[in-house]
Amino acid sequence: QAIYLEDYRPPAWLVTHTELNFELEEEQTLVRARLNIKANPEVSGKPEPLQLHGDDGMELLRLSIDNQVLEPQDYRREAGMLTINNVPDQFVLECVTRLLPHENTALEGLYKSDGMFCTQCEAEGFRRITFFPDRPDVMSIFRTTLTADKSQYPVLLSNGNPVASGDAEEGRHWVTWEDPWPKPAYLFALVAGDLALLEDSFTTCSGREVALRIYAEHKDLDKLEYAMTSLKNAMRWDEEVYGREYDLDIFMIVAVDFFNMGAMENKGLNIFNTSCVLAHPKTTTDGGFQRVEGVVAHEYFHNWSGNRVTCRDWFQLSLKEGFTVFRDAEFSADMNSRTVKRIEDVSLLRTAQFAEDAGPMAHPVRPESFIEISNFYTLTVYEKGAEVVRMLHNLLGPELFRKGSDLYFERHDGQAVTTDDFVAAMEAVSGRDLSQFRRWYSQAGTPRLNVTDRWDADAGEYRLTVKQSCPPSPGQEHKQPYHLPLAYGLLDEAGRELRSGVLEVREEEEAFVFSGLESRPVPSLLRAFSAPVKLEYDYSDEQLLMLLRHDTDGFNRWDAGQRVCVRLMQNLIRDWQNGQALQLPATLVEAWKQLLQDEALDPAMLAQCLRLPSEALLAELADEVDVVAIHEVREFLRTSLAQALEQQWLAAYQRCDTRDESYSPDAASIGRRSLKNLALGYLMATGAEPWLELARQQFEQSDNMTDQQAALALVAHSRHRESAAELLQQFYLQWQHESLVMNQWLAVQASDPTEGALERVQALSEHPVFDARNPNKLRSLVGAFCGQNPMHFHSEDGSGYAWLADWVLRLDKQNPQVAARLLTPLTRWKRYDKVRSALMQKQLQRMMDTDDLSADVYEVVSKSLV
Ligand code: ARG
Ligand code: ZN
Repeated sequence: QAIYLEDYRPPAWLVTHTELNFELEEEQTLVRARLNIKANPEVSGKPEPLQLHGDDGMELLRLSIDNQVLEPQDYRREAGMLTINNVPDQFVLECVTRLLPHENTALEGLYKSDGMFCTQCEAEGFRRITFFPDRPDVMSIFRTTLTADKSQYPVLLSNGNPVASGDAEEGRHWVTWEDPWPKPAYLFALVAGDLALLEDSFTTCSGREVALRIYAEHKDLDKLEYAMTSLKNAMRWDEEVYGREYDLDIFMIVAVDFFNMGAMENKGLNIFNTSCVLAHPKTTTDGGFQRVEGVVAHEYFHNWSGNRVTCRDWFQLSLKEGFTVFRDAEFSADMNSRTVKRIEDVSLLRTAQFAEDAGPMAHPVRPESFIEISNFYTLTVYEKGAEVVRMLHNLLGPELFRKGSDLYFERHDGQAVTTDDFVAAMEAVSGRDLSQFRRWYSQAGTPRLNVTDRWDADAGEYRLTVKQSCPPSPGQEHKQPYHLPLAYGLLDEAGRELRSGVLEVREEEEAFVFSGLESRPVPSLLRAFSAPVKLEYDYSDEQLLMLLRHDTDGFNRWDAGQRVCVRLMQNLIRDWQNGQALQLPATLVEAWKQLLQDEALDPAMLAQCLRLPSEALLAELADEVDVVAIHEVREFLRTSLAQALEQQWLAAYQRCDTRDESYSPDAASIGRRSLKNLALGYLMATGAEPWLELARQQFEQSDNMTDQQAALALVAHSRHRESAAELLQQFYLQWQHESLVMNQWLAVQASDPTEGALERVQALSEHPVFDARNPNKLRSLVGAFCGQNPMHFHSEDGSGYAWLADWVLRLDKQNPQVAARLLTPLTRWKRYDKVRSALMQKQLQRMMDTDDLSADVYEVVSKSLV
């Protein structure tokens, strides 16, 4: 079942033009496809049979070649392929298929979301629409006609520009779209519905007028402005930073409520999960606004990094995703706070991607094999892939990197290429040999950098010794050393910076010597997280606290603070396990007090520094995860810091109280709200009554979702159960008609760590706002319980595991992609104690023993049980 990178062969047949005709009806959709096919001139040897992908469940009504109808004996259908022997060198294939979009619960191919038709073709969804060489190295020019009832589906959209339209019989109408840019089938899209529209325009750097259109359901028309602003910012930024101009007369975004992932970059017609495009101060949190800005930019940037230059095969997925995540991260950093953006991204990488690297599904940024490609839209391909591109940026510097990306786009415009081609462009402009660097694409696992130092006072010489290693991962016992940029600074005791720069590490062990120093420096290592590795250096608490106060690298200031906390928490976990009383060290209280009293500090930065490392991070760092100890220790620390600094928390809260300002999602305001709500959290953690009142007040009086939701979550997760129930009910009554807000309402309850969590989520799964066919609802309830409520998901009686397995088995029939993704927490079973890991394994085995598993779930389960 698995397919391998090494088996790649160029396509035997090309499709130069594709004409599609959709008759959209309530009970069925008829698709007429007309493909101009020719033998690939680059492939020599005797002609191969024509092989087209086509889902086995798709109904084929008619098939012809050059107007000759084929009879069933003229072709073969098996294992998702249609094979026709003895075709001419060049011909027109026509085929008619019948689809049932309203029954498509997998949300791949053509389906219905609420009342509208839409598509999701990446990676391999086009084969559920018609027969086609559904692989990204087959690029074709598409012309698409949609016909549908005019009153129910007044808006008919596809890729490119509309070229003709008219009325048809029985109240129907049609529109024809033409996309001049050749593209792989995974970038095809259509939408039909009764949609509201926000329209604007953008003039490109060369003077082209582009119509910008964002569509959504009528009720959401007031939530499109922020996406529009973000889109225009992204278009300008890509011109300025990468020299990339948009290339069609129209750019469209459509918001749909049923969507497996975040969004999709279909040429000229991006389709978005509502959660990544709708934003309004009253219903969307700051995090939501930032997600909209980032995802709108991400999908727009794909127009060049993904569409104009696409992937040769799906093993190259990171070519477009890693690069585009890097691009969107830099965009967000430029629009907001660079340091905060970096802290957020690295936190995600260190918790979730490092955990993936250490688990049974670990794979290189460029995987070597897969059973189901949907399972490889991972943190490794996306986020680690972006870190790999960032390292190239760090190694080459911004100017050469830009030259490299210019060359890459110029060389490969209109082509389907590989990650090697990307690196080759960077090599060409820099004259550097990046062959060792390429290991980042082929080796899985998180490298460790162990750094030690020696100070020679007589010579004034400081020597850093860097050792690197990388643990084994599935199929890769031994790793070769990586080539990586190690950004550093050297500080004196008082925090003055003596040196800074970037070291290039290549060897398993390597020494770097600095001379002319007067005293032993304190090293600030891996600044701005210059490489995706685990850095070990034996810092003293004093050194870390000094770096927290003085490092000129904002990211490392934060990181120093986190290191102090992680070490302390790891010690407390040991104490807890040994039955010793937990104690809060005075040094930490003193350091935090100083931070809190320093009114010159940026509130956003302060909020990051005063947030304790998450339970997920501590779990990732542990040899064996002790769920209860981690939770209890973190709660102890939170409560103690809350009580010890109660006055300071209140002062910070008041200092950042933005009640008199009108809401704005700019970085400074977001920073103030994040510190304010963090402070409110600590105040609540003291357990004192007045702070419950303060939170209730904030809940009722705030004019924005950020403050309201923060207050709700704090009360809902507190021991004040009556208030919790009241606020949840009030919130429900206020927002029950806002689907995205109800997702938050579900997630807040699913992640509630207080007693009775499983019973609560079980009850919520029967609640009218919950809909098991909607992936957002599933993520908010099942995903949040299993991912953000460790105490209850990992309940020692195994009830949480069984509940998840029940869901996975049920969803596997309905939406395999979502089922496989929800399953992730169970794949980490080997990291837990005997009792828990046996219970988790039992549920995986139960799934394994189930007949007719989808390829998606089968791959994850079978690899996890190895
Ligand atoms: N290319 C999209 C993005 O990252 C993701 C689409 C993934 N879809 C899927 N069914 N795996 O922007
Ligand atoms: Zn993407």
